[in-house]
Amino acid sequence: MDKFYHIVTYGCQMNVHESEKIAGILSELGYKSCDDIKRADIVVFNTCCIRENAENHAYGNIGMLKSLKAAKKDMLIAVGGCLTQQMGKAGALHEKFPYVDIIFGTHNLNKLKEYILKKQGSKKAVIEIEESDGEICEDEKPLRTSYPNAWINITYGCNNFCSYCIVPYVRGRERSRKSSDILNEAAALVQEGYRELTLLGQNVNSYSNGTDDVSFPELLRRVSAIEGKFRLRFMTSHPKDFSEDLAKAVADCGKICRLIHLPVQSGSDAVLKAMNRKYTAADYLKKIEILKKYVPDCAVSTDIIVGFPGESDEDFNKTLELVKEVGFSSAFTFVYSKREGTAAAKMPDQIPAEVSKERIMRLVELVNSQTRMQSLKYVGKTVEILCEDFDAKKGLYLGRDEFGRMAYFESGENLIGKFVNVKIAAANGISLTGEVVKE
Ligand code: 5AD
Ligand code: SF4
Repeated sequence: MDKFYHIVTYGCQMNVHESEKIAGILSELGYKSCDDIKRADIVVFNTCCIRENAENHAYGNIGMLKSLKAAKKDMLIAVGGCLTQQMGKAGALHEKFPYVDIIFGTHNLNKLKEYILKKQGSKKAVIEIEESDGEICEDEKPLRTSYPNAWINITYGCNNFCSYCIVPYVRGRERSRKSSDILNEAAALVQEGYRELTLLGQNVNSYSNGTDDVSFPELLRRVSAIEGKFRLRFMTSHPKDFSEDLAKAVADCGKICRLIHLPVQSGSDAVLKAMNRKYTAADYLKKIEILKKYVPDCAVSTDIIVGFPGESDEDFNKTLELVKEVGFSSAFTFVYSKREGTAAAKMPDQIPAEVSKERIMRLVELVNSQTRMQSLKYVGKTVEILCEDFDAKKGLYLGRDEFGRMAYFESGENLIGKFVNVKIAAANGISLTGEVVKE
């Protein structure tokens, strides 16, 4: 009889890719994927803890499984990822949800198979969190779910300790994969037909750091040199490590997308200092200038936090000013969320929720108006889109151009994984709609 798995993923692309590795492990054990959680023989929650609402979301969904588990005693529930890796959280989770069978962390995902087998032979929950962030384990073969895009880890962990951020505590110190392993993986993926490769790391710019003699810009050049038509993306870049060499690599390699994600977090030097970001607003603008010197039309997206402890109206206005000056193609905006164990959690002058809410609304309005203006410039132009998916609700295919702009279009044939030319007819805020132009 067939056995099914259902994975619930929260958080960033790193987690999305790790869920592909979990899927690989489960399929090796004979499980098949299913969309209906009620049909699943094993449910895995791959959690996130970057902000409080990500944690609450996971707790809510794990709580909802209680009755399902009571009705279906053989069903296994496993919870892993960043939430469980936080100090003391695995024990607390077990107490709150005693029906969870397996709890694992970010450093021992590769042992999930062992934990499942152990649990099947025992009544007791299997709770294993490892502190080690030493060696990189390359055992798991991911079962990829993001075609035509493929995620490739290049670094794990982070050494930056931005004062608001929990990531260094739950993902450990930065480790870089060997460039030869990355290049072999990339070449195999292009061979298999993937049309977009995204290199992943918390801070890709510090790739290598002595592990081997290949710097990040050099790695980009080598991946770009792989034969075949594909796009190359990377995330996330830390502005302090964004170098002229990187800008040159983007300019020289046509396969690298003209959209760089460069989180600024704030436009105020005082806030940036308290965040331990190690650059000023002027330094950030200088990096953008360097990028534009080599790649004049390059789009830039960013992350911004509002309501960081001590952020005054004046600080926040500096963020608005910087957003106006750069003209981001898109921005992910967040209200600061206090994370226990980080330096910022102990800072005085935490900002009241109403103040942060009002600030984020003003920021979102500004960002949206910039995005709308940029989208409007597309109308009438023909752009090359890599078709990524079909939106069943809209009945339209969708994909992005090399600047990361999303476009929707109609097609009688399945275009997923194909490069198509689309003539843009209309702009609707962040996305575009158009018609496929036949050659
Ligand atoms: N509160 C709000 N946003 C945060 N981020 C990271 N930590 C926090 C936090 N404690 C945001 C940053 C980062 C993005 C991935 O999440 O902007 O770049
Ligand atoms: Fe968190 Fe800063 Fe590391 Fe990014 S660079 S993961 S924000 S500590």
